[in-house]
Amino acid sequence: MTRILVTGASGFIGSHVAKHFHAQGHEVIATGRDVARLDVLSRAGLRSWVRDLSSDPLSPLTDETDVVVHCAALSSPWGRREQFMAANVLATKRLLDASRQSGVRRFVHFSSPSIYFRLGDQFNTPEAFEPPRKWINPYAETKWLAEQCVREAVSAGLPAVILRPRAVFGEGDRAIFPRLLGLAQRGWFPRIGDGKALIDVTYVANVVAAVQASMEYTVPVDGRAFNITNGESMQVRELLHHLFSALDLKVRMIPLPRSVAIALGGAAETIANVMPGRPEPRLSRYGVGVLGFSQTLDISAARQQLGYAPTISVIEGIARFAQWWKSRVQY
Ligand SMILES: NC(=O)c1ccc[n+]([C@@H]2O[C@H](COP(=O)([O-])OP(=O)(O)OC[C@H]3O[C@@H](n4cnc5c(N)ncnc54)[C@H](OP(=O)(O)O)[C@@H]3O)[C@@H](O)[C@H]2O)c1
Repeated sequence: MTRILVTGASGFIGSHVAKHFHAQGHEVIATGRDVARLDVLSRAGLRSWVRDLSSDPLSPLTDETDVVVHCAALSSPWGRREQFMAANVLATKRLLDASRQSGVRRFVHFSSPSIYFRLGDQFNTPEAFEPPRKWINPYAETKWLAEQCVREAVSAGLPAVILRPRAVFGEGDRAIFPRLLGLAQRGWFPRIGDGKALIDVTYVANVVAAVQASMEYTVPVDGRAFNITNGESMQVRELLHHLFSALDLKVRMIPLPRSVAIALGGAAETIANVMPGRPEPRLSRYGVGVLGFSQTLDISAARQQLGYAPTISVIEGIARFAQWWKSRVQY
């Protein structure tokens, strides 16, 4: 039995990871800040500890822990830079330090392909990457900075693997599909460009399989990063069609040229920036980039070096998501 610390276990991906390893008979410490969401895990028999990774002492979490799966982050295309720095960089650095001092044997770090973002088509993007001079948002910037913290910890002796999963969806999703469904709730959806841009998404159980693969002793633990997707790039219009059909939604697609969408996204961001509370705009340049330009990832390194093999198709994943969304039970 391995003792596994899962951070962000009160969140979407972390809860799936924690439940998976618990079901396999490992000793799982599920941690997060949201007491109610952690209580759901406790009732399912997991040990859960409420901790703020940016400020609480972390050695009680990492001492006697074999593996850390670090899912916690502020995961959003919108928000204040200082909040992203605290949740994504400071928290990661503190957890890495504690893990190294406690002798953790493997650290699996969740990063994001948002770091590759460009307002342009990008096909089969590999992991090798030069950071841009200007980031699209503080999320992408701080996910990149956190990766650098992981690489420093590797140099200091901590074995680590970095995963960059693209657009994760499934039961409990709070970000990707809910945002699309929020846009579609008025009965129409912007078809940016010709709708034929290619998109990669990843069903959450496949992400869990990537974490499991990262635990194998043959895996390189030198801090290298791996793209993770379903390996089934599809046109944005196809993905939306499958999602809306699975939920029996009638949604009209309204054509919107890319240049107009970018201008509208920029204007919406400017307005949101001066509104009280800076609410997230429904359309942003980031959203336009994701839905209006092809952004596909090369996952051959994960296949070859991790032995990663996605087993649940996008269609099957959407069916499972739709079933959960319709019931809206606490997952
Ligand atoms: N979802 C995606 O499509 C996607 C794609 C690429 C990469 N990722 C990465 O995958 C990871 C998990 O994403 P997710 O979608 O599961 O996000 P999520 O549902 O928003 O969950 C984030 C988790 O992080 C925790 N957290 C944030 N700040 C914390 C802090 N200071 N101390 C302790 N816990 C903290 C939250 O705890 P509380 O809620 O309890 O406060 C929550 O459990 C993130 O690293 C994200 O960047 C996600």
